[in-house]
Amino acid sequence: MKLKLLNDSPLHIESECLVIGVTGEGQLSTTAQDLDEASGGEISRMLETGDIETGLGKTTLIHGLKGLSARRVLVTGLGKQEKLDRPRFDRACLAAGKKLRNHAVRSCHISIHDVEFCGTTPQWRLRQAALGIHRGNYLYTITKPLKDDSPVPLESAIFPGDDTFRSSLAQAESFALGFEKARELGDLPPNICNPAYLAQDAVSIASHHENVELEILEEEDMAELGMDALLGVSRGSANRSKLIVLRYSGASEDEQPIALVGKGITFDSGGLSIKSGENMMQMKYDMGGAASVMGAFLSCAKLQLPINVVCIVAAVENMPDGNAYRPGDVLTSMSGKTIEVLNTDAEGRLILCDALTYCEKFNPRVVIDVATLTGACVVALGHHATGLMSNSDELADDLLAAGDAIVDRAWRLPLWEDYQSQLDSPFADMKNVGGMAGGVLTAGCFLSRFMEDRIWAHLDNAGSAWKWGDDIGATGRPAGLLAQYLLNQSGIVAS
Ligand code: BES
Ligand code: MN
Ligand code: ZN
Repeated sequence: MKLKLLNDSPLHIESECLVIGVTGEGQLSTTAQDLDEASGGEISRMLETGDIETGLGKTTLIHGLKGLSARRVLVTGLGKQEKLDRPRFDRACLAAGKKLRNHAVRSCHISIHDVEFCGTTPQWRLRQAALGIHRGNYLYTITKPLKDDSPVPLESAIFPGDDTFRSSLAQAESFALGFEKARELGDLPPNICNPAYLAQDAVSIASHHENVELEILEEEDMAELGMDALLGVSRGSANRSKLIVLRYSGASEDEQPIALVGKGITFDSGGLSIKSGENMMQMKYDMGGAASVMGAFLSCAKLQLPINVVCIVAAVENMPDGNAYRPGDVLTSMSGKTIEVLNTDAEGRLILCDALTYCEKFNPRVVIDVATLTGACVVALGHHATGLMSNSDELADDLLAAGDAIVDRAWRLPLWEDYQSQLDSPFADMKNVGGMAGGVLTAGCFLSRFMEDRIWAHLDNAGSAWKWGDDIGATGRPAGLLAQYLLNQSGIVAS
């Protein structure tokens, strides 16, 4: 879907559909006022009679409104004016995007960014509107192509605005493509999206963008480096693991890169500590960390940000077979630290610890890993916040702020030393599980042992990477948070 700018009054645009926003009991936005005047007060009347719904996320489609050139008007409810904030605005934009996806229109003009609310600029509102429409318009078609009765996604969305909106739209577009990439990878079935597929996708990212280099480490390479924790997990699978290393150079060579490290378990059966059948099918999403770092990397490459980034994806499948690693095994990680495996289902930390040690090679100024690491994170934070743990207050604050700015939010959890002893083992430097209490925290503690001398943060997206039940599918999160963080780090003033 294309996003475009057009410096023209919405009133005179010949369009299949014009999209506006209204708040309850508030003032009409400029566009709504114009439409109201042109139609002889029709908008006001419909608001009064309740024919236009102003509730948050509600949409009303009006056909043949007099006095304007557009064939239809879609009104997006933004809820009460005094309650309107960034997350609510975002929800309304997503709702409008989804409505448009499911409707026959293929192209529309969107003017929601003239609805003012606390502390936001029109540039930010346009960016979020464009991003929200794009995200709402997402439809997975790779293994279920469009049919006659399928939703009809938009082909283009056009926003009224002058040149001062150009970079906002460019940000929206690259962020949207990052989210889309992460969602597509997540939604693909595990028989297609295996480690080799992720590697192939990285090949395509590298070949389509400037300043991007790619290296793929095979199992033999990893064995040589001593990555026995990662390879331990991999042993029960017929699919060979890949360590994918994407490098983006937007700044001079001597500038330290930001490292993004993703958990790419393309299917997590649990291994010999096998999961129950009930929820196992959801574990195709266990590469959600990898998907989000690849998405954010793509956004960065599209924007050609003036920073250096290295993106490392540990792509592995966790399966049980005669070769599989066992509960009781002791693995020696690349760092030299030994790990007693008490549960083969706590595999994410085992592949990540080696990926984290490997990334030392790039002398990164900051390391951020993303992983669908623990069911405990879902229990703690539900599906709305990504869990954040960090050994640096500054980095944690930067990531939280980035999440707020793009409405892809995280919430910080403690990384206190107090939790570390839960990982003590009589047979190795540590065990790979810390017991029932604070499962999300002991997972973070485990990783922290491999990042002792780095500024590092861990994002647990087990709850935020996908939705189950209604509205099923990958979210791509936190690709947006990461992309916004990279944008902020490049010193470009965000919109
Ligand atoms: N990929 C799972 C975590 C997960 C579970 C994410 C449910 C999303 C929804 C991870 O590999 C896992 O199995 N973790 C175990 C750890 C435990 C054995 C210490 C878990 O959370 O149960
Ligand atoms: Mn697992
Ligand atoms: Zn897992």
